[in-house]
Amino acid sequence: MMEKKIALIPGDGIGPEIVREARKILDKVCEKFGHSFTYTELLMGGCSIDAYGVPLTDETLEAAKASDSVLLGAVGGNVGNSRWYDVAPNLRPEAGLLAIRKGLGLFANIRPAYLYKELKAACPLREDIIGEGFDMVIMRELTGGLYFGERHTEEVDGVRKATDTLTYDENEIRRIAIKAFEIARKRKGNVISVDKANVLDSSRLWRQVAEEVAKDYPDVTLTHMLVDNCAMQLVMNPGQFDVILTENMFGDILSDEASMITGSIGMLSSASLSETKLGLYEPSHGSAPDIAGKDLANPIATILSAAMMLRYSFDMDKEADAVEAAVSKVLEDGYRTGDIMSEGCTQVGTIQMGDLIAERIESN
Ligand code: IPM
Ligand code: MG
Repeated sequence: MMEKKIALIPGDGIGPEIVREARKILDKVCEKFGHSFTYTELLMGGCSIDAYGVPLTDETLEAAKASDSVLLGAVGGNVGNSRWYDVAPNLRPEAGLLAIRKGLGLFANIRPAYLYKELKAACPLREDIIGEGFDMVIMRELTGGLYFGERHTEEVDGVRKATDTLTYDENEIRRIAIKAFEIARKRKGNVISVDKANVLDSSRLWRQVAEEVAKDYPDVTLTHMLVDNCAMQLVMNPGQFDVILTENMFGDILSDEASMITGSIGMLSSASLSETKLGLYEPSHGSAPDIAGKDLANPIATILSAAMMLRYSFDMDKEADAVEAAVSKVLEDGYRTGDIMSEGCTQVGTIQMGDLIAERIESN
């Protein structure tokens, strides 16, 4: 029996609906495995702007720090037509996300991209490219690089000029590389480190440090790939990837590409980890404001993120397996939300999908 304090950040758009279903699943896990989870709901993103004028308050950050783990829905609205975007960049919903990543020290972002055999028809790649399918994780550095470097906009002799800086020190590279090798050890033992070492100093250091870390993991193979080539390889031969290790900006771009080729972004979870057990778990997709409140959203990515929380923050492997098995079972039984619907299946809404998964959670 374990007791855990979970901070729930439903956020904006479909966030509240999908987090509600994930909570249903966590409660079911408690019931079946005899644990006790308590929840604190926190505001972040647009809803926090509405309530407090900022996307993340210090109090919210402190409350998140005081919890054992954080489950996030999604933040943000329609960039074109939302009042949340008529303000300075550091006051917009996404700034809350960057601030909580930095504030909680979440330097390691794990984004799995997996082709579900039941959803093969949704994969946009050709059959001969899909082959036996693919199952990779992207280990993205999350609190450094271009996202957090010094930036400014100025006017020099009447010419507008903007600067962003990309800096990494060896400690930042080492700690994310270690995470990548550790996870590779539990998978197929294959790390591909992605960089732009033919141009960037930060990438050349990245490569050196990755090589140094590799010496401690003789059971894992390390290869290097240039980021432009990686973008190409992902759609040419996705089966070759096990763990992709990369810096913040490259990881942002490649993880969207990797999730797209699964054809089911509504299914993909993610975890952001720190040096401690405290992590933040969220679906890889966004807040989908156009379908918010309509019981249409796919809650599976959030439910699988909750499973990652059980595994990585709470060391509850059996419980995480049970949630993942329940999701697979629901797919096998032919239930689909609209985004992954195909002929011959039964279409269900957000709430029913949560119920169907909860019903299938078993403790044996
Ligand atoms: C992501 C998102 C964020 C990022 C945005 C919303 C700031 O694209 O989590 O991938 O770029 O990290
Ligand atoms: Mg992104």
